[in-house]
Amino acid sequence: MTDQNPRGELFSEERSADVVAASFAGAPDPRLRELLGSLVRHLHAFVKDVEPTEEEWNAAIAFLTATGHKSDDVRQEFVLLSDVLGVSMLVETINNRAGGVGTESTVLGPFHVVESPPRPLGADIALRASGEACLVTGRVVGPDGEPLGGATVDVWQADADGFYDVQRPDTVPEGNLRGLFTTEPDGTFWFRTIVPRHYPIPDDGPVGALLAATGRHPNRPAHIHFLVRAPGYAPLTTHVFAADSAYLDSDAVFGVKPSLVRDFAVVEDPSRAAELGLPDRFRTVDFEVVLLRSAVGD
Ligand code: BEZ
Ligand code: FE
Repeated sequence: MTDQNPRGELFSEERSADVVAASFAGAPDPRLRELLGSLVRHLHAFVKDVEPTEEEWNAAIAFLTATGHKSDDVRQEFVLLSDVLGVSMLVETINNRAGGVGTESTVLGPFHVVESPPRPLGADIALRASGEACLVTGRVVGPDGEPLGGATVDVWQADADGFYDVQRPDTVPEGNLRGLFTTEPDGTFWFRTIVPRHYPIPDDGPVGALLAATGRHPNRPAHIHFLVRAPGYAPLTTHVFAADSAYLDSDAVFGVKPSLVRDFAVVEDPSRAAELGLPDRFRTVDFEVVLLRSAVGD
């Protein structure tokens, strides 16, 4: 009998989860104890449910090993795995219940890997000429509609070919389609960009192989990422999705929430376009962001 096995029970098929969970019973951190105990119970229940062959279990280990080998500071294959299994969205949603008042959150994704460059309101974040010009306007407010001046609005999106700057560092300027804006005292913000396009998540690694083996496509509907912060309010990670995009109903990472879908309206108004420094025909989208107050003590 040891501290790890206070009842002196040995491993058996029937008692496997209890015996292994008990081995963690002495973990000094109660949350770690709870997490590991629950993980062991669910994992053993899964194994008992599907009864993998040894070849299948070895294949699962090889898959996880390949997922690790594919990962580095920029390529986050484990994030992708969590995304395509819907776990990223579940964790995000559980931790950011908007209560019908705040703007809903969605998945962060693996491409917020650098600080977005601070830019003045109105700046064009498209550093290369390609794609359909777009004006993004919006306002950051609190739950009672109070304007949040001085809030930061961090945005990033893929280019017209469906790539983020960090995926093609040799050909795309750093900071392309990224910007960190600060709202006016009335909470408003605006910037120029290009209309986002749907794109595939990186699918040249083990996660792509998993999707292919299961007949799933790798695409995400067109979106712009937002990370909005204001002192005293809970930070919000979200997207605005283009209403006319493909894949809105089958996002590879389950990130779409109907409340986040907006029209990117066509504007044909040459004098307005000239004022804004945009081509005569451009698109526009407005996105109001409602932040919830931080819980006391946050
Ligand atoms: C993204 O939207 O940037 C993203 C999210 C999950 C997986 C891959 C990309
Ligand atoms: Fe994205």
